[in-house]
Amino acid sequence: MRIAIGADHRGYAIREQVVEVVKRLGYEIVDVGTFSPEAVDYPDVAAEVARLVGRGEVDRGILACGTGLGMCIAANKIAGVRAAPCHDETTTEMSRRHNDANVLCLSADLLGRRLIERMIEIWLNRPFEGGRHARRVDKITEIERQVEAERRNSV
Ligand code: RB5
Repeated sequence: MRIAIGADHRGYAIREQVVEVVKRLGYEIVDVGTFSPEAVDYPDVAAEVARLVGRGEVDRGILACGTGLGMCIAANKIAGVRAAPCHDETTTEMSRRHNDANVLCLSADLLGRRLIERMIEIWLNRPFEGGRHARRVDKITEIERQVEAERRNSV
């Protein structure tokens, strides 16, 4: 599996750890930065990672910013992306089992190192349960199709 990793200047504080953990677990990384603590705008980073996921060029993405929220809001604008702002083991696990989340959004400000490591392990290992959850996730994809069709019809 190929994992794209992106952080803004606030996420920079945990980005090296995220890269290390993902590598240690044996995944290939596409590292989109940011590569210094200089301020960057989180939507730019989120869009880069989300587009890689949406186009299927990577299997999943991990994003980090101050709260995890801005990255998540921006990433979810891209079709095919199901980004989840997780903050503990339970939300991390459920984002995979029920929502088939393909982008994990982490808060550099609020999460400790041990928890971050554990969350990444859980998130990369837990399979999607499918079944009734697949029907619901398919409905999310259907919303994307409808929105796209409405947009086309309005131009
Ligand atoms: C950047 O100051 C901060 O707003 C960003 O890292 C993130 O927390 C946004 O949701």
